[in-house]
Amino acid sequence: MARYGLIGRHLSHSFSQRYFTEKFGRDGLTSHRYDLFELDRIEALPELLASTPGLRGLNVTIPYKQAVIPYLHTLTPTAAAVGAVNTMDIRNGILTGHNTDVDGFRATLLPLIGDARPRALVLGSGGASRAVAFVLRELGIRFRVVSRSRETGDITWDMLDPSLVSACPLIINTTPLGMHPAVDGMPDLPMSAVGLKHCLIDLVYNPEKTRFLLAGEAQGARVANGLTMLHAQAEAAWRVWAG
Ligand SMILES: NC(=O)c1ccc[n+]([C@@H]2O[C@H](COP(=O)([O-])OP(=O)(O)OC[C@H]3O[C@@H](n4cnc5c(N)ncnc54)[C@H](OP(=O)(O)O)[C@@H]3O)[C@@H](O)[C@H]2O)c1
Repeated sequence: MARYGLIGRHLSHSFSQRYFTEKFGRDGLTSHRYDLFELDRIEALPELLASTPGLRGLNVTIPYKQAVIPYLHTLTPTAAAVGAVNTMDIRNGILTGHNTDVDGFRATLLPLIGDARPRALVLGSGGASRAVAFVLRELGIRFRVVSRSRETGDITWDMLDPSLVSACPLIINTTPLGMHPAVDGMPDLPMSAVGLKHCLIDLVYNPEKTRFLLAGEAQGARVANGLTMLHAQAEAAWRVWAG
């Protein structure tokens, strides 16, 4: 049996198990299975690895994308540059950390911007924000990270004035604000400064359109949710595991 799975703290609403179980069924991979492994602390990972024979790969989610790194033997250059791992490959006892959120975000962004390189605002400074920042840097897009703290971001929310929002046609929400079940949440930025030239991306995909995206749409902006990223990062994880 070739085993795969997801580690994280709360996984009851995971998309990944259904995605991979359906994929294995479609592709006739009857000796493959994908499980959810809820860990209340990352220190439980070695025991999970020891007690799960046949484990070939794990996805990693909140809150362990950074905490998992000391447990790995090696990182891909991308995962090392991002500083976060969302996919682990297990081969001959060697644990390699990958970051396929980067592939997922690139797949979302490129069709939206084409050859343009608009200035950007990245809302939030967590694990997903680091993957987003990696792709923006790779594409030569200038951006600022908006954070609750000056220590983790370039600017704080109170510094987000209409002129800055107007000067940054690409705005990416990497915070969980607006995510189910707290769907009333929304990043606190002057939406009146958003207009026709703007493109708003929300990494949240449940609900399909967050309050942030609905407000952007009402101002005439183009919007995209996190669904393309979700599918593309899973497909990239499978390419890692399938070699
Ligand atoms: N579509 C996809 O494939 C995909 C992939 C990865 C993540 N995501 C989504 O992206 C979101 C973030 O995931 P993550 O792994 O980056 O989580 P994370 O590491 O916890 O980071 C989230 C960041 O959002 C900011 N934040 C959190 N609560 C906030 C609040 N109440 N007000 C303002 N800012 C707040 C924080 O930044 P500061 O500390 O700088 O304020 C925090 O570091 C989640 O909703 C997740 O589901 C989607």
